Amino acid sequence: MKEPSKNTVDDCSVIDLPKIQNNAGNITPVHTNSDVPFQIQRVYYLYDIPGGEVRGGHAHKILRQLVVAASGSFEVLLDDGKKKNTIMLNQPYKGLLIVPGIWRELINFSSGAICLVLASEIYDENDYIRSYSTFTNFKNLLS
Ligand code: TYD
Repeated sequence: MKEPSKNTVDDCSVIDLPKIQNNAGNITPVHTNSDVPFQIQRVYYLYDIPGGEVRGGHAHKILRQLVVAASGSFEVLLDDGKKKNTIMLNQPYKGLLIVPGIWRELINFSSGAICLVLASEIYDENDYIRSYSTFTNFKNLLS
């Protein structure tokens, strides 16, 4: 695995999750280490997100995450300090893997959207980089 400071937006990818189709409704099971390439330590979800709200606006030093639109849709803006990429999530059987060392913002939430996040670590405020200039320093870029 690369140093988080060297990770780029191209190290983030959309992963196809299993989908068990059923006329009575579908199921997507997610197993730690196999369906998602890390050990899941924490699950959280964003909901009741007011229209026009922006979430994220930070990077992580070691945390890896799989972000899923469990309901509705939203966009994830990824930024490694040099290159940006925007990923639209709108299917509950697709997950966006975000590696550490990537600045992210979540925007354009549809009404009733639920953003499910599977995370490799427990919550730790010290793992957050919440200032963009600190982020560019972390990436060894001139801010
Ligand atoms: P934050 O991760 O900044 O939210 P987002 O990236 O979705 O905009 O978290 C917002 C607040 O919630 C912050 O004060 C920390 C707290 N929080 C926890 O206590 N535990 C958690 O697992 C998460 C994700 C956040």
